[in-house]
Parts: sequence; C-alpha cells; structure tokens
Amino acid sequence: METKTLEEIKRACEACEKCELCKTRTNVVFGTGNENARLMFIGEAPGQKEDESGIPFVGAAGKLLNKYLDAVGIAREDVYIANILKCRPPKNRDPLPAEEDMCIDYLRDQVLAIRPKVIVCLGRISAMRIIKPDFKITAEHGKWFDKNGYSVCAVYHPAALLRDPRKKDEMLADMIAIKARMDGEDA
Ligand code: URA
Repeated sequence: METKTLEEIKRACEACEKCELCKTRTNVVFGTGNENARLMFIGEAPGQKEDESGIPFVGAAGKLLNKYLDAVGIAREDVYIANILKCRPPKNRDPLPAEEDMCIDYLRDQVLAIRPKVIVCLGRISAMRIIKPDFKITAEHGKWFDKNGYSVCAVYHPAALLRDPRKKDEMLADMIAIKARMDGEDA
C-alpha cells in the first residue's frame, strides 16, 4: 500500500462527507505539528475552540497540555498532534463508534506518513481505540504497549485533569517517562 502524504490526507479530510459531523463542522481539525515528529499525541475529537480555529488542542485542555510539554522540556513544534475524529461532535459529546470507524483510516494514514517513535493517547477514548477496547485509564495510564512497532501509552486527558487536579502528579510522572522514551532512554 502506498503511503499518502499529509497534504493528500488533509485534502481528503477536508472533502469528507462520510458522517453527519461534516454538516455541523466549521473547520476540519486535521492535525498540526512537526511532520517528522518522534512523538505524536492523539486526542479524542475537536472541541469548540478547535472547530473554530481548525487546530487541535487550542482550548483550555490544550493550554494545560502545553504546560506539561513545557514542564518536561518538549517543544510543541517538535511533536505532532491529531485526534481520532477530525470534526467536532455537537456539544462535545463522546464520538460514536460509527464515527470513529469512518474517521480512523485518516489517522492511520497520518501515523504512516509521520512514523513517530512514540504515540501517546490523550484520554480513555483515544486509548480504547488505539491500544485496546477495555483500556482502563486509571489503572493503565503511563503503561507501555507495543503496537506494530510503535511505543504506545496513554495519559489522562488534560480536560480530566482540569476536572480533577489530584491526578496532576501522576500526569507529570507519565510525561517525564514519555520524554525519556522519546529520547531513547528506558523509563
Ligand atoms: N480535546 C481533544 O480530545 N482534542 C482536541 O483537539 C481538543 C480537546
């Protein structure tokens, strides 16, 4: 199978009408960052600010993610950030399994184009799709899995940390381990 370029995948997303979310989107939120990133983050779906700007993780959750990147010495420009869904679900409801099924090939193509060393799922929904359907975020965040040669783990979704700041220490520890893995050390 031929690897598509990010530009080709983006064009396909922008023309996509596979599910109903195309009718309510303001912008497709394709993904942003370094096209040769060693580290790729995968969130769930765009929220309001992302739908308005076309850029993932620019709202309150994104600002908190930026703080963690800063704290562990990762530049946001060096990573790539995308979501399972490229269009915002109305009122930020959880993605429907059928929507994920229709959108997931775009993400698969993005991963193949970028070939990151490390993939980090942001939150339970992303982890259940990328790592395993019965993923338990409280018990398994920060744990490493091998998926087709990629080092994959999940961390709490930054929006969950905004709701429950008691999880912030665990998030910092996970982010430190992610930085070490990205740098090629064992953590
Ligand atoms: N939450 C997500 O999962 N993705 C975004 O892009 C923004 C908020």
